[in-house]
This record gives sequence, structure tokens and C-alpha cells, in this order.
Amino acid sequence: MTEQIKTPVAAFSAKFVKSAIWPKDYPDISPRSEIAIAGRSNVGKSSLINYLVNQKQLARVSNTPGRTQLLNFFEISQELVLCDLPGFGYAKVPPSMKDQWEEMMSLYLSSRKPLTAVMLLMDSRREPGEWEISMITCGSQFGWGIIPVITKIDKIVKSQRKLVIQKIAQKIGLPASKVLVSSSDALEGREEIWEAMNRFVIR
Ligand code: GTP
Ligand code: MG
Repeated sequence: MTEQIKTPVAAFSAKFVKSAIWPKDYPDISPRSEIAIAGRSNVGKSSLINYLVNQKQLARVSNTPGRTQLLNFFEISQELVLCDLPGFGYAKVPPSMKDQWEEMMSLYLSSRKPLTAVMLLMDSRREPGEWEISMITCGSQFGWGIIPVITKIDKIVKSQRKLVIQKIAQKIGLPASKVLVSSSDALEGREEIWEAMNRFVIR
């Protein structure tokens, strides 16, 4: 019987499998679906992965932006792989590394066969820009879905949250009802995110 991911509990078997510079370094094992976690440097990608799978140190979290510089693959179950993508917009890397980052990202996003969705993380305190919008365009171009998630919602007082969600949603051209919120610190949003992810697991 295949393992079914219906609830966060199924993520308890999550394990780190590989860091790779190029997508081909981690073969896309059919019939697994793959969901990538994308966002600006320091937005909270690695923290969110740890929260989603209920493990403190599965993905490396750092106060230093740009910590995750490779494609990091995590096997969640027999059906799902998560890929922690390097953060966009880290200024301190040398130009040669930036070029490599861009090549790696475009190769991954354009040709990764099992990629069914990209979870696009956006900091609650920051207005999304061209890069986030281009990720959404990329999704329709290459045929994967977008799961928009606002991170660090604990940084926004409760009375302001609705407004913040509306503003971010409007900026990326999606209805506010489609944008999820999360806090890896205050442990908010996990169920909703798993629900959204489940829709992109092909069975
Ligand atoms: P890179 O790999 O460098 O691109 O960063 P990342 O997007 O993986 O971010 P990471 O998870 O390493 O978190 C960056 C910083 O934000 C760390 O100091 C985290 O503790 C903090 N952080 C992450 N999630 C949350 C959250 O939900 N709330 C708050 N308040 N801080 C958070
Ligand atoms: Mg990271």
C-alpha cells in the first residue's frame, strides 16, 4: 500500500537526501511529485520546511542571509519530495555565483519533470516585487502551480493582518482568499499549507 499524505503526521518520515548544484545531480524519481520552496533570501524557507515536517533541524536555518545556496532535497514520503531553493536576492555573493544561481534556478524551474508546484514565500513585512510576479508567470509558462504563502505573520499585529494579506495578494495579482499565512515561530498555518500541498501530489 502506498503511503498517503493527508495530514501533517505523514510528514514525520521526512528526511534530508541531497544537496545539489544542478537538478540532474538528484534524479527525479518518478512517480514522486516534487514541490519547491522559493522566496527571497531570509524569508523563512528553511524554517517553514522544519515546521511543516515537525522537525527542528531538518533544513538549516540561519540569521545570515544566503545560507541555503544549493538545491536541497527532502524526501517526505513515497509520494512527495520537497526542494528548498536558494534564496533570491542575496547581495553579498560574488557575481560568478549569482550567474550560477540564475542558471541553476532557470534550469530547475523550466525542466524539472516531477515539479508540480512552487510554494512562493513572501515576508509579511515586505512588499513583493518583480521577482515574485515573475515566479507566478513562470508557473503558467512551465505548467506548475503556485502556492502563495506569507511568512512571519507573527510580526504583524492581529488587527493589521487582513490588510497586509490584501496588499500582498493585490501586488501579485491573486485574490486574498488564495494567499496562505504562516508563522514558523508562532506555529501558525501548517494545516492549511498541507491541504494546499496535497492538491499537488499526484496519485
Ligand atoms: P536563506 O536560506 O538564507 O535564503 O533563508 P531562508 O529563507 O531559508 O530563511 P530561514 O528559515 O533561514 O530564516 C531566516 C531568519 O528568519 C531566521 O533568523 C529565522 O529564525 C527567522 N524566521 C523564520 N521564520 C520565522 C517566523 O515565522 N517568524 C519569525 N519571527 N522569524 C522567523
Ligand atoms: Mg534556507
